[in-house]
Amino acid sequence: MQQTNLTINGQEHALDADPRTTLLDALRNHIGLTGSKKGCDHGQCGACTVIVNGRRINSCLTLACMHDGDEITTVEGLGQPGNLSPLQSAFVAHDGYQCGYCTPGQICSATAMLQEAKDGWPSNVSDDLAKGQKLTDEEISERMSGNICRCAAYPNIVDAIREVAEGAEA
Ligand code: FES
Ligand code: FES
Repeated sequence: MQQTNLTINGQEHALDADPRTTLLDALRNHIGLTGSKKGCDHGQCGACTVIVNGRRINSCLTLACMHDGDEITTVEGLGQPGNLSPLQSAFVAHDGYQCGYCTPGQICSATAMLQEAKDGWPSNVSDDLAKGQKLTDEEISERMSGNICRCAAYPNIVDAIREVAEGAEA
């Protein structure tokens, strides 16, 4: 067993777990935060996306013990019923889900993606790599391409993200 100190959604946790435990399993099975979902468990679907030190990662592809001292945000840390984050509210308003299984990962991913775009990071479809890009539907789809939705709620997911992106630009 190995102890790992994690700050999750602003709260400190001393995790005592087998060093082979993935961050996703630590969150769900040891800490009881079941918002992050296990879709494929090998980096293909994005359902397990969380934000670590400001960057989105697939929590199924990393070991919890590699994150000693890190700051982790899960969907539970973005907002709660009655106090939703702008993206959480926009997903509700635009019906950005059907079964909802991919939704926590979509929302964590989109939250970090909006910051990446704000910081001027280009994507594979950006015209000018030196400049930040307006978040067109093509840009949003490309930047969110690591998050798969089996229900194919993509048009509504893009609508929700575009609304928040445009609000942030205004
Ligand atoms: S569960 Fe991690 S990418 Fe699918
Ligand atoms: S809403 Fe069902 S997988 Fe995306």
